[in-house]
Amino acid sequence: MTLVLFSAPDSVWDEYRDVLPRAIARAGVEARIIRDDALTDPTEVDYIVYAPSSRLKDFTPFTRLKAVLNLWAGVEAIAPNPTLKAPLARMVDYGLTEGMVEWCVGHTLRHHLGMDQDIRRNDAEWHPHVPPLARWRNITVLGLGALGEAVARALVDLNFRVTGWSRRQKDIGGICCLSGDDGLREALSSAEILILLLPLTDNTRDLMDRNRLALLPKGACVINPGRGPLIVDEDLIDALDSGQIAHATLDVFRTEPLPPEHPFWAHDGVTVTPHIASDTRPQSAADVVAENLRRGETGEPFLHLVDRSAGY
Ligand SMILES: NC(=O)c1ccc[n+]([C@@H]2O[C@H](COP(=O)([O-])OP(=O)(O)OC[C@H]3O[C@@H](n4cnc5c(N)ncnc54)[C@H](OP(=O)(O)O)[C@@H]3O)[C@@H](O)[C@H]2O)c1
Repeated sequence: MTLVLFSAPDSVWDEYRDVLPRAIARAGVEARIIRDDALTDPTEVDYIVYAPSSRLKDFTPFTRLKAVLNLWAGVEAIAPNPTLKAPLARMVDYGLTEGMVEWCVGHTLRHHLGMDQDIRRNDAEWHPHVPPLARWRNITVLGLGALGEAVARALVDLNFRVTGWSRRQKDIGGICCLSGDDGLREALSSAEILILLLPLTDNTRDLMDRNRLALLPKGACVINPGRGPLIVDEDLIDALDSGQIAHATLDVFRTEPLPPEHPFWAHDGVTVTPHIASDTRPQSAADVVAENLRRGETGEPFLHLVDRSAGY
């Protein structure tokens, strides 16, 4: 029987203890799931279902491992691990995608429509401010992967003018697709609203520094549900203070939870959300894990494999 180690804190297991065995049974796989504290012989483990908050960091003893199935979309915590030799798959599913689309569209519309002006005002004065139509608003999405492409498409469906940037050149109907350094400069220069949906890798860390923030049109809004280190915090604060950036909505941070003394909390131009842009939903994620177990057991290629040389 296939042995699956579910390596994650109790709080994560509580969400999966019912849905995962059911999903595995539906996939027709005969598997026994154990937790870290029941692990006696790592050489017997076939698969590890892995949460980045797991204490497991040394994969060397798992000599029979067929794959590690990451429960999150982001893999920066595990992809560089030199002890992991088995294939690494990450989470791509409708739950993560729909959650991210809803969060990004919501925060984009907040800035596009200038909702804060009405929500904060209670001065009994009539201040008409008519937002432009979406067709006249330029939005740039950095990262056109599973999440970035879905967000970009949803914004196109709302009639926004959308530019996207990715490592490899793409061709997606309705989206101005760019790549490379020149493409990044062009993508930033028109971005009245900038959405960051890049993974954290050696090539994307600190991407949005003061020089690149300066390329945005004055008064642009930045929305970051990607990863905290994509932006240089001090440079963003300076850009907010100078008015170069009108507002930043940040879901992810260099240190999480964001420390109480961090200047983002007190800054009027920053909205902090606690890494909730899109959570992995066990109801949909369990099926992806089960499908990958089935594929592994029948010799089919795994879904959503990470290119570890690229870091994502
Ligand atoms: N806040 C949250 O709740 C939350 C939830 C889920 C995910 N996330 C974050 O969202 C990120 C994106 O997820 P995803 O599933 O969309 O990832 P993905 O499918 O791997 O897509 C990543 C995109 O980034 C592009 N990219 C990577 N490195 C690049 C570089 N150096 N230059 C230009 N483009 C580059 C890729 O280009 P190619 O298309 O050419 O490969 C791809 O378009 C995750 O890594 C994670 O950090 C956050």
